[in-house]
Amino acid sequence: MLLDTLFFLLNLLDVYAAPQQVVLQAPALTKPRKLHGRFLHITDMHPDPFYRPKTAEKTSCHRKKGKKKKNDSGFYGEPYSDCDSPFRLTNFTLDFLEKKWASEIDFVIWTGDNARHDNDRKLPRTPVEIYDLNRAVAAKMNSVFTSRGIPVIPSLGNNDVWPHNIMIPGPNSITNEFSSIWKTFIPFPHLQIFQRGAYYAVEVIPDSLAVISLNTMYFYDSNKAVGGCMFKERDDAGNLQFDWLEVQLKGFRSRGMQVWLSGHVPPSPGNYFPECYVRYVELALRFQDTIVGHLFGHMNADHFFFLEANDLDFFEPVSVKGNAELFHTLISDFSAMPKAKDLSLDDYVVINVSPSVVPNPYLPSFRVFSYNTTGSVRALKDRKHGHHHGNSKDKEKQCKLDTYRETWRCQLNETWHSDPEGPARTNRLWTPLGYAQYYIPHLEEANKTHKPSFKLEYSTYVPAALEGKNGFHPVPPKNLPSNLKHRHTPYGLEDLTVGSWVALAKQISSSKKLGSFFKTYMYMS
Ligand SMILES: *[C@@H]1O[C@H](CO)[C@@H](O)[C@H](O)[C@H]1NC(C)=O
Ligand SMILES: *[C@@H]1O[C@H](CO)[C@@H](O)[C@H](O)[C@H]1NC(C)=O
Ligand SMILES: *[C@@H]1O[C@H](CO)[C@@H](O)[C@H](O)[C@H]1NC(C)=O
Ligand SMILES: *[C@@H]1O[C@H](CO)[C@@H](O)[C@H](O)[C@H]1NC(C)=O
Ligand SMILES: *[C@@H]1O[C@H](CO)[C@@H](O)[C@H](O)[C@H]1NC(C)=O
Repeated sequence: MLLDTLFFLLNLLDVYAAPQQVVLQAPALTKPRKLHGRFLHITDMHPDPFYRPKTAEKTSCHRKKGKKKKNDSGFYGEPYSDCDSPFRLTNFTLDFLEKKWASEIDFVIWTGDNARHDNDRKLPRTPVEIYDLNRAVAAKMNSVFTSRGIPVIPSLGNNDVWPHNIMIPGPNSITNEFSSIWKTFIPFPHLQIFQRGAYYAVEVIPDSLAVISLNTMYFYDSNKAVGGCMFKERDDAGNLQFDWLEVQLKGFRSRGMQVWLSGHVPPSPGNYFPECYVRYVELALRFQDTIVGHLFGHMNADHFFFLEANDLDFFEPVSVKGNAELFHTLISDFSAMPKAKDLSLDDYVVINVSPSVVPNPYLPSFRVFSYNTTGSVRALKDRKHGHHHGNSKDKEKQCKLDTYRETWRCQLNETWHSDPEGPARTNRLWTPLGYAQYYIPHLEEANKTHKPSFKLEYSTYVPAALEGKNGFHPVPPKNLPSNLKHRHTPYGLEDLTVGSWVALAKQISSSKKLGSFFKTYMYMS
């Protein structure tokens, strides 16, 4: 009883404050840390304990030599294949990050899938194996980052559960196991909510910057164990998570804080239940002045896309499945965007999807973002007033119909908060400035004696900024190639504000050259 009351009180407090991560091994965190202005986004590691070198891809690289020697699996993994990662590659990646990056970053966003995901009938996955793999990777993340006082914010992937994609509302064995596996990552006051839904928030810079880890399993339309955020099912696990998210965003906004949203499955019409998608888009736009960015994984393909206010006007959003179509769909979306003068940046947010560590179907990679730690704070009193998103005539008509009346599109009517001078729109304190992406281009050549090596694939920066000419090194010079080429900075973005992404999307759709860079990065070839 007493404990219940305590939890209740803690939950009330939660409404106002997501606590910072308590890093037990590092009491130094109580003192303000020296910020480096960088963080890591890593995703989809997929270690496979059954991976064997010199085996055939069609056995998931588990056994049997292939007919052609050339096609046999490599010592550190099989690039462009269906195979998962040898643990050797997972370890190599995290050891590399420890050596080259752990002393250069402030926090780690880690968006799930830490178990193998093949469907080898001779070696079926089990819940025990999935938890063991997650425990092993979490222990390594703990020793590389958390033990140094660097907060790590994991989120749950669709292959971190058994069977694939299926997760019933919590509390259940999954939320129970992960609250133990991630106990050094989840702030104590969030544990009880975590038991219900596997989502939580961490103040990575106390009172200033937070990361929210979403459990996208409750939004993902492959999860047949939940209802998909239907308006009338208010207790649906997805709806409860959005209600929680709304409370978190209101709380952070009232404190003048900025937030990164993170999760495994990106919020797209092809991935989310239609009603969950509507709620995500609406919250993302309603809190544009509070959210600095949205980071996801799952697709294993480098890309970005927009959520737009007019997604809320139509009743049948187009859905895309599969990476092959992705490039063409995005190019046509980008070219269909209105001209700059007819477009209000209030109506857009960008979703960034990072490629995976597993070389399936491309090459191992990770991203390091930089963000502004020296600019001026946007004072609460200067923030722009809220506004209402006007409905189209067509939508108003449709919302009178019984079919649509009780859908989220027709019911959401809150004031939206955007702010042209806020960090998501103008480069100032906490604005994301850019990212550098690393990959292993010749994974197949690595062997026992010849280690693989991570190289800078590309970055979003202007060449001069990458070289530190603005008085800040977005990438530490020791982690840059000695010879920077145009392909390392093809986009030349000043920062990662909404306006920069919209301008880039237009350029990608109108310039063959930029379009081909975008495609090369998406498919890593
Ligand atoms: C061998 O690999 C090549 C290219 O990587 C692929 O086109 C071919 O289908 C593979 N052959 C077999 C037997 O798997
Ligand atoms: C990976 O690293 C962990 C912890 O450092 C170690 O226990 C394990 O044996 C390593 N596995 C491989 C395959 O290198
Ligand atoms: C950070 O923001 C300030 C404006 O508040 C700007 O002057 C400065 O150039 C920004 N820093 C970087 C590295 O872009
Ligand atoms: C907003 O929507 C809610 C139901 O979702 C309704 O109860 C309320 O009256 C609406 N408010 C306005 C101002 O339309
Ligand atoms: C390892 O790879 C290197 C370079 O690709 C090659 O020169 C060497 O012979 C290989 N060693 C073994 C043991 O296969």
